[in-house]
Amino acid sequence: MMNKTEKILVLDFGSQTTALIGRRIREFGVYTEIIAGDAPLTEAVLTGVKGVILSGSPDSVYDEGIAPDKRIYECGIPLLGVCYGLQRMTTDLGGLVEPLAKMEYGGVEVEIQIDGQKIAHRQFLAAFDAAISLDQLLENGGSEETRAYEPLSDSTLQFSARFTAWMSHGDTLTRLAPGFVQAGTSASGFPAVALHQEKPWVGVQFHPEVSHCERGSEILAAFVFSVCHCKKEWTMERYVEEVRAELSARAGDNPVLLLISGGVDSTVVGALLLKTLPTEQAHLMYIDTGLMRKNETQGVKKTLEKLGAKNLYIIDAETEFLAALKGKEEPETKRKIIGDLFITIQEREVARLGLPESYFLAQGTLYTDLIESGKGVGKKARLIKSHHNVGSPLVDAKRNAGKIIEPLDRLYKDEVRALGRLLGVDEDVVTRHPFPGPGLAVRILGEVTREKCDILREADAIFIDELKRRRAPDGTGSLYDEVWQAFAALLPVRSVGVAGDSRKYGWALVLRAIVSSDGMTADVYRFPMKDLLEISGMITNTVKEIGRVTYDISSKPPATIEWE
Ligand code: XMP
Repeated sequence: MMNKTEKILVLDFGSQTTALIGRRIREFGVYTEIIAGDAPLTEAVLTGVKGVILSGSPDSVYDEGIAPDKRIYECGIPLLGVCYGLQRMTTDLGGLVEPLAKMEYGGVEVEIQIDGQKIAHRQFLAAFDAAISLDQLLENGGSEETRAYEPLSDSTLQFSARFTAWMSHGDTLTRLAPGFVQAGTSASGFPAVALHQEKPWVGVQFHPEVSHCERGSEILAAFVFSVCHCKKEWTMERYVEEVRAELSARAGDNPVLLLISGGVDSTVVGALLLKTLPTEQAHLMYIDTGLMRKNETQGVKKTLEKLGAKNLYIIDAETEFLAALKGKEEPETKRKIIGDLFITIQEREVARLGLPESYFLAQGTLYTDLIESGKGVGKKARLIKSHHNVGSPLVDAKRNAGKIIEPLDRLYKDEVRALGRLLGVDEDVVTRHPFPGPGLAVRILGEVTREKCDILREADAIFIDELKRRRAPDGTGSLYDEVWQAFAALLPVRSVGVAGDSRKYGWALVLRAIVSSDGMTADVYRFPMKDLLEISGMITNTVKEIGRVTYDISSKPPATIEWE
């Protein structure tokens, strides 16, 4: 897919910020692809590649750090080394990298100094020039004139600049590789920017992709547009056209089955199927475990019908799930029961549909699901995003038969949202917070009963509705949009309270609201106290079984986002 499009290839050596490099460049309107750092660079992989970025890594080049395919230095494509990426280029090309006595970490001042050197790509230096804005650099992506590469030949250049970069490394370049010049120096006196004198190879010892790195976006933009001469052609409209053409070609006349969870990803895949294939060809199945949020099942039905779904199967499995969970208190036991039962019901119901063997299974796998954080893409087999994060025999069988369709597997989460909007999915669905596969079962601590599900559903709905209704302190959007995930959880404790003249014994409820970028780590959202107090009052006034409301002030780590 996307082979016709120009792209920037990112070689992932395992840094936690590799995915960010891809994000930033896509935001410029240029398609990027992240592949494993040591992936073979075959002709097919390099088709359309205008530049390669070598990412950072937690490893050292002289230790267990992996090396790129040597063809990278022979193919003539521009290279940008980021931290480990530059160290890698330095070692591979005959320089020396050694450990620092003291790590360079956080904001570090960098001085750029070019004086009388023969530099092959003066355009790149614009990245460090405070007089040149990001917008000016981005304009290069649109215009044809700036696409000619201008080596500086023998003329000399003088340039100096200063900015604060963001660093995180314990190794330094003690000898540059032949042909490179040191164009920038860190406050502690180590090389921070290195440029090759003749080839379009540049490297930085810091992380331009990190938002608090000054001139970071400019550095990436200068590389992409001024060194690689990419055009801005990555747009969602264009992607949709390509993905739809591919979907039609792959599916042919065969039925396509999609298991809908109600979340953003599977709903957007549903919309894509419904807007691309004849409606009868798309089969959508949703299993209501009874562990869903208030009005969730009706909402899913309404959304899909509005998108034109005809073959929509809503499976009511509440009784089966609650019966299986009866008397079970241990979190892992509960999760296992739900996961296993989900698979059993899924297989039973899919068999009941009687689809021909040739049917395809569509999945809402995202690009980020394939990038295993911190380990490097491709080191692990494709992750399969199943409803409960456990292997599903149905998905495995379909994958082995080459019958899986994953139309979102090139997209980041916000791109999926943009795609959803383009396809006419309601804003409410597109901006929905994540919800765990086992649903309310991991938010009701201890035994799950229908009564507790109902209590929690009511309280959670009040909390969420209020977050949607209330403005964030800076007034820009709602509190709901401000937080990454919010929900209520029901504790297995009852506490004493007063109601009129008598004592009352009510359940304790926890509200949780966090900010995060990917759910891997999370910070507590700092609500204005007024909002918390008012929401607490509304819950205890409306849901009589709840006697006390608390706010969870634990970050992740050490706590997880969910309670079980
Ligand atoms: P934790 O609780 O592990 O959650 O900090 C991180 C994110 O993952 C969601 N989550 C799940 N999602 N199936 C899912 O599809 C699950 O079993 C599951 N458990 C947690 C959680 O809501 C949060 O967004």
